[in-house]
Amino acid sequence: EHEFHREHKPLKLASDGPFGRFDRQQLQRGFQVYKEVCAACHSLRLVAFRNLEDLGYNEAEVKAIATQWAIQQPSINPETGETATRANIPSDRFPLAFANDVAARAANNNAIPPDLSLITKAREGGAAYIYSLLTGYQNQPAELVHEFPGAKTPEGLHYNPYFPNLNIAMPPPITSNDQVTYQDGTRATIDQMAKDVSAFLVWTAEPNLETRHQAGLATILFLLIFTLLTFGAYRNIWRGVK
Ligand code: HEM
Repeated sequence: EHEFHREHKPLKLASDGPFGRFDRQQLQRGFQVYKEVCAACHSLRLVAFRNLEDLGYNEAEVKAIATQWAIQQPSINPETGETATRANIPSDRFPLAFANDVAARAANNNAIPPDLSLITKAREGGAAYIYSLLTGYQNQPAELVHEFPGAKTPEGLHYNPYFPNLNIAMPPPITSNDQVTYQDGTRATIDQMAKDVSAFLVWTAEPNLETRHQAGLATILFLLIFTLLTFGAYRNIWRGVK
C-alpha cells in the first residue's frame, strides 16, 4: 500500500481551542516572514496595514511599514484618468503582488499564487496544511514514478506530498535557517519560520478569533447559570405538589 499523499503534520498554536489566544510575538514573526519571503508572490488583499496594530505594532510602526512596503499602491488621477502609484498609507489594504493574473502566471510557470488572506480557511487542514506544505518539499519517491510514470514531476514544478496534486508550481520558499532575522531573539529555523507564518495566516483569516472565543465562553457560562436558575424555578413551582 502506498501513501504518497500525506496527512498533515500536527501543528499546535496558541490560538487553538475554545480558550485559544493569539501569541502576538509569534504573529509578528510570522508577519516578518510574510513580508520578507511570501509577499514577493502572494497578496493579502483583505488585510489593511492598520490591522497590524492588532499584532502589537503602534501607529508609527504601522505607518513606517506601510510607507516602506516594496510594492506601491496603484492610484488613478480622477481628472485625467492617468494611472500611477503612490506610497501606501495605513488605511490601504496590502497591494497586489502582480498587476494582473497574466503577469502572475508569466512569473510563476503559468500558476497564480493565491491571495493568502483567507487561505487557512480555504484549505482543508488550515494552518497545519500550510505548515506541512512549507516544510514538505522533497525528492519525488522513485517508486511513485515507477508505478505512475505520468505523475513524474514536470520541469519547473516541485514535488510536495502535502499538495493535493503532488506537483506544485511554488518553489520551496523557506529553504535555509536564518533566512529572516527575528527581532525577538527567536532562532529562525526553517521549522520555526514555517510555524510562525502559518500562525500569522490564521490571524489574517480570522483577526477576531479571540472575540469569538470569548463570546462563546460567555454564552456557555450564561446558559449554565440559566439552566440552574430554571431548574431552581421548576423545583420552586412544583414544591408541595404530590
Ligand atoms: C501557492 C503559501 C511564498 C508562489 C501557495 C499556496 C500556499 C502558499 C498556502 C497554496 C497551495 C494550495 O493551493 O493549496 C506561501 C507562503 C509563502 C509563499 C506561506 C512564504 C513563506 C511563495 C513565493 C512564491 C510563491 C516566494 C514565488 C516565487 C506560489 C505559486 C503558487 C503558490 C505560483 C501556486 C502553486 C500551484 O497552484 O501549483 N503558496 N507561499 N509562493 N505559491 Fe506560495
